Parts: sequence; C-alpha cells; structure tokens
Amino acid sequence: MKCKIVLNNDFKIGDVDPRIYSGFIEHLGRAVYEGIYEPGHPEADEEGFRSDVINLVRELDMPLTRYPGGNFVSGYNWEDGVGPRDSRPVRLDLAWKALEPNSFGTNEFMNWCKKARTSPIMAVNLGTRGPAEAQALVEYCNHPGGTHWSDLRHSHGWQKPHDVKLWCLGNEMDGPWQTGHKTAVEYGRVAAESAKMMRWTDPSIELVACGSSHPGMPEFGQWEATVLEHTYDLVDYMSIHRYYGNQNDQTPGFLAMSDEMDRFIKNTVAACDFARAKLKKKKRIMLSFDEWNVWFHSHGSNANSPDWSFARPILEDVYTMEDALLVGSLLITLMNNADRVKIACLAQTVNVIAPIMTRKGGGAWRQTIFYPFSLSSANGRGTVLRQSVESPSYETVFGTATDGKPEKLEGVPYLTSSAVIDPKSGETTLFAVNRSLDKELELTVELQNIEATKILGWSVLHNSNLKAVNTESVEAVKPCEVSGAALRKGKLTLKLSPASWNMIRLGA
Ligand code: AHR
Repeated sequence: MKCKIVLNNDFKIGDVDPRIYSGFIEHLGRAVYEGIYEPGHPEADEEGFRSDVINLVRELDMPLTRYPGGNFVSGYNWEDGVGPRDSRPVRLDLAWKALEPNSFGTNEFMNWCKKARTSPIMAVNLGTRGPAEAQALVEYCNHPGGTHWSDLRHSHGWQKPHDVKLWCLGNEMDGPWQTGHKTAVEYGRVAAESAKMMRWTDPSIELVACGSSHPGMPEFGQWEATVLEHTYDLVDYMSIHRYYGNQNDQTPGFLAMSDEMDRFIKNTVAACDFARAKLKKKKRIMLSFDEWNVWFHSHGSNANSPDWSFARPILEDVYTMEDALLVGSLLITLMNNADRVKIACLAQTVNVIAPIMTRKGGGAWRQTIFYPFSLSSANGRGTVLRQSVESPSYETVFGTATDGKPEKLEGVPYLTSSAVIDPKSGETTLFAVNRSLDKELELTVELQNIEATKILGWSVLHNSNLKAVNTESVEAVKPCEVSGAALRKGKLTLKLSPASWNMIRLGA
C-alpha cells in the first residue's frame, strides 16, 4: 500500500512544550513503596530511593512528575507525610483500599524529583479538604520562612523553599468514584477559592483545573464550561484524562484510538473556547493531559491482593507490543496538538500502569511502552509541522475504552505520523506508525523548504507477535536501527513494516 506525506517548513502547528513528556507517581499499589522507594534494597541510596529506578526515569527524561494522586489525593492529609517518620500516622487509603504508612511524603518526593531530574506538579486535596489546606501546602512548600507553615518546613530540615510551580486543583472531581465527588458548580466554587488563596500565597504558580475524567462522562463539555465560569481568570490549564484498552482483542480498533484521543482533545478545546467566547476573555486555557495510557490488562486482578494491605500489587499491567504501538501513536497525537496541549503525564511511571517495573528486592526493567516514550521524549522536541497526508484507510470498531461502548469508525488511516523540526540542531524527526497488521506501507515524504540531505537514523519497534512482552530477564520488544530508507532531492522513501512504530531522523 502506498502513502504520502508532504511537509513544508512554513506550515507549523506549534512548538512542543517538553512538559508533554511528563510522568505521574501516585500513592497507589507499588508505585511509591517498592517502586521508587525501597529502603534496604541493594540499589537503594541513603534516602531509600532505588537508584536503578532513578536511572530509568532519567532515561525517560520527564520534565514533570505529578504527585501524590490521582484518586489518592482526594482523601490525603499532606501533614501526615511530613516531619519525623516515627510520628507519622498509618491511615486507611479509601481510594485504593490500602494501608498508607506515610513514610514517604512531600519532602521525600521533592528530593526524589531532584535525583530523577524531574520537577513536581503537586495536586491538592479538594475532595475531603479545601482552600485552607491547599493554601497551607503552598505556604509549606514555597514560602521562604518566618511563617507557621514555612517554619514547619524548616524544622523538618528543608531550609530552601521547594518552589513548586505547577499545582492541580484536585483530581477527577466529576467522578462518583472520587472521595468528595462534586457537581461542576460545587467544584468550580471550591477550585476558585483555593486558586485565589494559593495565588495570593505565591503569585508565580500555575494552576490546573479538573476537567472531565473521560469523554464518556455524562456532563463532558458542560462540566468544563461551568468550571471555567467560576475559575477562568484564576487557572491556566484544564485537565483531561484518558485510558485505552483492548479487552475484546480488536486490535485494529484499539490502534485507532489515538484518533479518538485527537477528537477528545479538540472537543475539550472547543468547550474551553466556548467559555472564552461566552465570558468575553482574551486568554486561552491550555490543556494538561495529566493522565493517559493503556490500562486494561490488570482490570479485575485486585482480588489477588487483600484489601487494607500495604503496597498492594494492583494495576500492574504487563504491556505488549501492540500496547507500545498505541502508546507511540498517542504520543504522535499529543505532538500534533502542540498548540493546545502543554502538559501531558503518562500515567503512571513505576509499577502502576507504568513503563518501568520492579521486583521487590530484585531488578527494574523497561516495559514495551518505555521505548516509544523515551525516544519521543528525546527526539520529539521542537516545532511540529502541519502535514498533508494521503493514506489508505480501514473501517473498524473502536476498542473498548474504560467507559465502554464500541463505536463504528470509517476512514481510519493506516498511517499515523508527526514531524518535528528541532530549531537548535536543524534536525527533522518523523514519527510514523503503520497500523496495518499485515501490509507494508510504502511511504514517500516530500520535504519542502526543509534542509535535509542525510538520514541520521531509523529506529523501528516491531515484533511480529503483537502479544510479546518484556520481563525482568527477557526484552522481547526493543527498538532496533534499520537501513533501507532513501533520501534524494527532497524526497524520502521507505517501507514501514506492518504493525511497526518508526522514528526517522534527518539532518542537513
Ligand atoms: O491512574 C490511576 C487512576 O486513574 C488515578 O488515580 C485516577 O485519577 C484515575 O481514575
């Protein structure tokens, strides 16, 4: 099958905000305990942080890491996790039916971020708590000293402020599963008052309001508009979340879901811009896609771990080759929405629906989805070009997303792609996924007004077994460098293997 892309350096979508390659660590399952923090592990440093995990997180090069949740944050007392460890309380975590010992908290997270070369996005609890506690946390983290909460930080051993620049006003507040679930008006009001007090405490911070938990939510669209009626001038970003699954083993439909992500983004932008028009505002609200990933393998597996236990091994999806194809395609969609999506967090980072897995007392390894993420993060920074794409297409039914109903889809292109020019190096990088499970795509890329005379590399992620997984000892899915592409007189030609993720780097 033949397909074609035309690129022209004059036609741009926007600059990639590197923060779209961010991650997420929640107090959930073995993400914190046995994930990033395991005192006594042979790789643990003096603070109990696993250095093997830190090295893998550095490879992912995540500018931000969201913390401490997720659903967890909506019942969290941040004060439980600071100060001397032996006086921190053990609590029931209602969100995940687990025991929370609080031996890891805000200050430990800040230290871990520095070591992992990431920066925090902190979420505040607007489920069971409100503006006063959110303000106190900003004061604890960001105020230099001489006040109750900043002096408490000093007394805990952290003299310098943590200077946290980004804050989420709660988590998935539209969801009935959320501790302290709210209506749009209830949430809009509490978010506005919290935002005011947090900004008064530190005017340099940026704030993310909670959008819909997924596009199937009954109030999707209206929720965003109502929340913004209360918060428009006080927030910078609207959050969106989305998880994808292949429960019915309908791989063509599953692989089409990056197109559904595109529609979700554009619909959320429309809802935010509706509020902008109605409220007669100049500012545009940007999107923070602060939870996204494949999540379905572990559904129903919680029964294997008793409720109210510590570090329950839950949500431990083991990812396949086809999951890596979708994650690569979702990253392509994020790049192609660079004008409005400024933050995106792969949910999550370690053990819990994560690119990195660990064994208690044992190794740490890269899941299949690690690779499209790390390579996109390393090479997908710069200016995204608008593409003109011709590709044969197929008809399918979307795989079943977390919210359910299969949907018939026509005209899904076999090729999904993005093109990024790095203004510093002048390199052009093309990301391309062939969604056909059995046919090669013969791709021609016409490069107009782009300085590219040589192929610097072509990385391919492919395994003919779409269900292949990586384990602690075997890496069945990893990228390899291939040859066979040609670049002549501004025309790149290459053949994309069926069911493959590709990254082609071109230089002047
Ligand atoms: O990432 C797992 C969970 O998914 C998060 O806690 C929640 O925000 C979402 O529903």
